[in-house]
Amino acid sequence: MCGFSRWGQMSERKQFRAIKGTRDILPPDSALWNWFEHTAREVFESYNFGEIRLPIFESTDLFARSVGTETDIVSKEMFTFSLSQGSEEKQADDEARQSELVSLRPEATASVCRAYIEHNMQALPGNQRLYYIGPMFRRERPQKGRYRQFYQIGAEVLGQSDASAIDSEVLEMLLVFFNRVGLTRTTLYVNSIGDKNCRPQYVELLREELRKVKDKLKEDSQRRIETNPLRVLDSKIPDEQPIIEKLPRISDHLCEDCRAHFAKLKEDLNLRRIDYKENWRLVRGLDYYTRTTFEVTAEGLGSQNAVCGGGRYDGLVELLGGPPTKGIGFAIGTDRSILSIEESGNAPKLGGLAVYIAWMGQASYPTAVNIAGKLRAAGLSVELPPEEMKFKKSLGLADKLGARYALIIGEDEVASRTFTLKRLADGDQKKLAEGELLEYLESERRR
Ligand code: HAM
Repeated sequence: MCGFSRWGQMSERKQFRAIKGTRDILPPDSALWNWFEHTAREVFESYNFGEIRLPIFESTDLFARSVGTETDIVSKEMFTFSLSQGSEEKQADDEARQSELVSLRPEATASVCRAYIEHNMQALPGNQRLYYIGPMFRRERPQKGRYRQFYQIGAEVLGQSDASAIDSEVLEMLLVFFNRVGLTRTTLYVNSIGDKNCRPQYVELLREELRKVKDKLKEDSQRRIETNPLRVLDSKIPDEQPIIEKLPRISDHLCEDCRAHFAKLKEDLNLRRIDYKENWRLVRGLDYYTRTTFEVTAEGLGSQNAVCGGGRYDGLVELLGGPPTKGIGFAIGTDRSILSIEESGNAPKLGGLAVYIAWMGQASYPTAVNIAGKLRAAGLSVELPPEEMKFKKSLGLADKLGARYALIIGEDEVASRTFTLKRLADGDQKKLAEGELLEYLESERRR
């Protein structure tokens, strides 16, 4: 027997709550989430992206290799566990255990690349344009806009071309989507962080410069000088800002190809009338990026104001054992985007209860069941109380539930084969035959 019954006893009086950093999305908020995700599908599909559904956990090695062992995500934020059933000899074999370690996905670009290789997608015609929607997991310190289970909507383009027109089209698609959902008080930041031809020299130069000012930096930045000097540029510590501003900038050290790629990207963004700001310090917290990096921030979010991050990752597929492949993509943080839309007052009023059926007398129940079925089939949201209620109580509940109409069915209505429809906002009341009722409510729904 497993230990569940003992756990059960121990926690008899315990009040269960969602684990810190996770939360429930309840109605009516969930309607807003569905609408947000549905709009993303519509926009992305209009750019010929198709959905990829990915596993929630993957080999820990996959993330270590792609995101990078020195990044915060891999070094301290992954939820990792072993798939082994735990025989003692097996546990003793560290190497075998290590290879069975899996992690809840902290992001999905690595998984998309793994799937691209696994399904031999390079053999398919054209670029692969994929999007995904779902939860990600990072053991971060929870705060407003930062959760341990959070949600992303991401899009990736993989293939043979690294034309900057792909980068600008991906950015256009992102902004079309943000515009459509009313996330408009945003700023797009772009940067180029070079490639394997020019970045290593820049990183070395940066390291040398940072060593000269090491004493003036805080502990985290001091450590990063050796492990990942680019990440020092990400520091938000006020005292470090004047020092960082004087450091050499990658834009002055790009090779000819990277410089041309970035220039062409900016030209194409202008052509598409996309507003952006250049930010030479935008290096991003994942190791797989090359050349283009970008981030979108939104208002009303405090310190966690990035609603989307992304960039180019040419070479990542190859690093994971696949063929030479170029890639670019982004991930939108759904939690933060929705917070920002709500705070700006741009959230649409969605769904809600259309008709509450106030039936009285057992003789009217069959009519109530019948009409509820027809109204639901016509696409209306209908609530049919399971038990008879007093008229006043029934209408009171309809009001509290926020129903737009109460459909009153009593003995009189059954006898005259009509329905009384009451608009709850102003009390306006009509007597309608079944056909008229359906027609009226359907036209109301379309308005
Ligand atoms: P990322 O910048 O780590 O990039 O995450 C993208 C977005 O996810 C962030 O801008 C933020 O809105 C949201 N996010 C991240 N962590 C949290 C959290 N703890 N709580 C709430 N929201 C969060 C990536 O994940 C890359 N895979 C993006 C990408 C796709 N690059 C290329 N393709």
